[in-house]
Amino acid sequence: MAEPKLLTISGSLRKGSYNRMLLSEAAAAFGPAEVTEADLHLPLYDGDLEQAEGVPAKVAVLTEQIREADAIVIASPEYNKGISGVLKNALDWVSRVPGNVLSQKPIVVVSAAAGRTGGEVAQFMTLSCLASFQACIIPGPGVLVAGAGNEFDDSGKLTSESYRKALAARMEMLRKEVSK
Ligand SMILES: Cc1cc2nc3c(=O)[nH]c(=O)nc-3n(C[C@H](O)[C@H](O)[C@H](O)COP(=O)(O)O)c2cc1C
Repeated sequence: MAEPKLLTISGSLRKGSYNRMLLSEAAAAFGPAEVTEADLHLPLYDGDLEQAEGVPAKVAVLTEQIREADAIVIASPEYNKGISGVLKNALDWVSRVPGNVLSQKPIVVVSAAAGRTGGEVAQFMTLSCLASFQACIIPGPGVLVAGAGNEFDDSGKLTSESYRKALAARMEMLRKEVSK
């Protein structure tokens, strides 16, 4: 059987993003897969732009990647106790493409943040947005990496056994869902 397609989506764009590191760790924990990292450098959602030009090419690429993915992991940073604008913007664009590509899509949401709650509010908001897409959210022990600046080594690996275990458990559940 061909390897499953895993799409990783980071709500942070920066190169040294802890959420991107967390996604690499998630992909490794998922096991053999064809992994694609989504690019959320998208124009801001603008109804006039949409009307004049339709869905931007980069949104079409993202939508296609979602459609083709067997499973998705989303990592959301927390900005001012909320979801990052980058991630929300991407979800808003995707929602404008007919056919709801996120419907029933197996998804795990994780987060890494500087604060003590590890981005809990942002993660909750992300899950809340995904509910309106009727995505297949994989439940389980939350992966909320608090004080993220101290939780990854120089090569981007999680240093804490408890986070690694929680992530592995979650990714195992995602893999099981995909193998059904
Ligand atoms: C605009 C902004 C707002 C932030 N608000 C929060 C917050 O509400 N809670 C929190 O834990 N961290 C907050 N932070 C710190 C981020 O958690 C931290 O920068 C984190 O590393 C961002 O994720 P990244 O490493 O994936 O880019 C904020 C950072 C920025 C830039």
